[in-house]
Amino acid sequence: MMKLTTPYYLIDEKKLQRNMEIIKQVRDLSGAKSVLALKCFATWSVFDLMSQYMDGTTSSSLYEARLGHEKFGKETHAYCVGYSAADVAEVASFADKVIFNSFSQLDRYHEVAKGVKLGLRVNPGFSTSGFDLADPARRYSRLGVQDMVELRRRLPLLSGLMFHYNCENDSVASFREQLQRLGEIYGEFLHQLQWVSLGGGLYFTKEGYPIEEFAALLKEFATQYGVQIYLEPGESSITGCAELVTSVVDIVHNEMDIAIVDASVEAHMLDLLIYRLEGKMEQPQEAKRRYMVAGRSCLAGDVFGTFDFERDLEIGSEIRLIDAAGYTMVKKNWFNGLQMPAIVVKRLDGTLECVRSFSYEDFRTALS
Ligand SMILES: Cc1ncc(COP(=O)(O)O)c(C=O)c1O
Repeated sequence: MMKLTTPYYLIDEKKLQRNMEIIKQVRDLSGAKSVLALKCFATWSVFDLMSQYMDGTTSSSLYEARLGHEKFGKETHAYCVGYSAADVAEVASFADKVIFNSFSQLDRYHEVAKGVKLGLRVNPGFSTSGFDLADPARRYSRLGVQDMVELRRRLPLLSGLMFHYNCENDSVASFREQLQRLGEIYGEFLHQLQWVSLGGGLYFTKEGYPIEEFAALLKEFATQYGVQIYLEPGESSITGCAELVTSVVDIVHNEMDIAIVDASVEAHMLDLLIYRLEGKMEQPQEAKRRYMVAGRSCLAGDVFGTFDFERDLEIGSEIRLIDAAGYTMVKKNWFNGLQMPAIVVKRLDGTLECVRSFSYEDFRTALS
């Protein structure tokens, strides 16, 4: 078998396929299409598998949109918080839908994007997000439009609306309530449009999520308003599918035992720091030893978390952080010039393929 050296991200296609099958099931039961949110996961070496189950991609920038178009295919939804004129001209040449974030962007650029279906992001004024930082309905939010009079005026330019107002929401009851509110507020507009995107942040691939109930709600909404529904799953597409595999490079003691690994939270799992979360690890059968597991960057708070282990760790021990696919590889950076984790895919037939490794040259050429 191939010898892999740490650090590396390991994506397991079998686990990915499980999520994909749920996404397809939702589509089969409800008619709602799912487009992958590339902001969360854009490792295109597994797009051949994902594109068999999903309907395309959605994006946050010109480059993401282009990647989706080139590497995933199917439908390309192009959204950006702030397009330049040149961006719009380019995305309009390949995207199926261009979604603007504001009235001013729509007014300024709709002519440039003529011939492409246009959408507008709406801020419904409510959200389910545990973090103010990621709350699209927070005070002064710039994400989406709110003025109903202005929105009504723009309807003739639009074919659909995009809402994104959830974050890891695993409650189907709250989703039901949200749909009802959206229908009450925007129903009359939706009747005049062809599609609506309900954004990401719905945790419907989580173990135990009531898929049939979810699908029934989607179908009912789509039928009532005569619209094609899109979902934009990021995290739900790839949850539980990857690990960050590391090795211990040192063990130090300061009130507790601290294992330093050959990766970094700051550089390789940045969202843990941003949202002040701990990494996750498989729990051992029998917990005998406890270590703080920390990264090797110079940042004092570069800590993955404190975990139980079955045995003493030593230099070279392997440590696997699980659930490492979402918002990790897309955000990795060269802070401290640390070796960049390679990207390895465990294919459906069990073979391991290192699809990308990084060298000193990549570090050097990232700057000049
Ligand atoms: C517009 C939009 N769509 C989809 C997503 C994907 O969300 P998630 O990864 O939580 O499913 C996000 C995340 O921020 C988003 O802003």
